[in-house]
Amino acid sequence: MADTKAIEAAKEQFGAVLAQQLERVERLKAEQDWVNYSDVSPIVVGMIGGDGIGPFIAAESQRVLEFLLKDQVASGKVEFRTIDGLTIENRAEKLKSIPEDVLAEIKRCHVTLKGPTHTPERGDGWPNLESANVSMRKELDLFANIRPVRIPREGIDWTFFRENTEDMYAVGSQGVNVTEDLGIDFRVITSQGSERIIDAAFAHAQRTGKDTVTVVTKANIVKTTDGKFLDIAREVSERYPSIGWEGWYIDIMTAALINPARQKQFQVLVLPNLYGDILTDEAAQIQGGVGTAGSANVGKRYGMFEAIHGSAPRMVREGRAQYADPSSMMRAGAMLLTHIGFEEQGDKLHKALDICGQYERKIAITGRDTGCTSQELGEYIMTTVEDPNLDSRWDEYVKG
Ligand code: IPM
Ligand code: MG
Repeated sequence: MADTKAIEAAKEQFGAVLAQQLERVERLKAEQDWVNYSDVSPIVVGMIGGDGIGPFIAAESQRVLEFLLKDQVASGKVEFRTIDGLTIENRAEKLKSIPEDVLAEIKRCHVTLKGPTHTPERGDGWPNLESANVSMRKELDLFANIRPVRIPREGIDWTFFRENTEDMYAVGSQGVNVTEDLGIDFRVITSQGSERIIDAAFAHAQRTGKDTVTVVTKANIVKTTDGKFLDIAREVSERYPSIGWEGWYIDIMTAALINPARQKQFQVLVLPNLYGDILTDEAAQIQGGVGTAGSANVGKRYGMFEAIHGSAPRMVREGRAQYADPSSMMRAGAMLLTHIGFEEQGDKLHKALDICGQYERKIAITGRDTGCTSQELGEYIMTTVEDPNLDSRWDEYVKG
């Protein structure tokens, strides 16, 4: 016989989740338009070191960005700030995923470049705080997680638009254990949340001269929520008559990404949060590992750019932090430049990273004293960025 008491208790919890999410929908409806950075002065760029190897790779990234934007800093168009305190020690002491004063400082910046931050897990000695990443995505409403994966020589140029605030992540810690044997989690997909990420993907395709958007779901099985995502894609596509689109299922998509006969056909991909989490790790591995990829978390008002690897506490414990690879954070820096309107500088940095990390590799990082230091790699990338022949050097390598 059904346990009516357990059902009633679960209904109540479900009711609370629904009320919260309907309020959220109202907030989404009232949302403003994208910031136009050409109207903003100064654009405030916050540098967040984070934990472990974070401060080491952040220092190298900041050096390159300050170099590329030296004219803009001199003219007052761009201002760099350093934000301390997003460390696991300070977060544990305050028992906050992002301490109040740190969050306030972050909100005074337009965009931030963030080193990795440790996410505690049960039993690792730290209080079980929510991931600083996930909190920041929620606090600043950074709904678009943009992850490019490029292997120019193989003709691979993918940009993933992963929805960053909904799906299984929205209420991931508010599931219900109805009875000891029955657990239920909730998946949240809204029209507004789908519309803004899908529109961002189409707009990106249009801006960058691409002609297709691939929409990834499992709508044949997960009919209500993925069905909605797909319906919204159909609607949004009508605003972009010059861009084609097709729907793919997530399972076959994971196969297609490693299928040489298919790989090149994908350009811009848009997908709900959890599928995006998984597929972008696979994609980054194809490019050379998650340590090589950068990630943009952007909303209409704020942006946060980060490396997609962890804080490598072991490297620090073993005294190897100075050998940490800054490439992924620099990739994120290149995305930051493009996002705030310095496309040319962003492009230079992307090309220098391709040359130094994928092709020429005059020196290479191994994570220990068998390879170069973060600083040496930073200098190599900087001299490559400065090279007047950067474009032709890049073209040559890409042709192979
Ligand atoms: C990512 C990470 C995060 C996520 C973790 C660190 C919470 O895997 O950025 O892809 O699951 O989104
Ligand atoms: Mg992930």
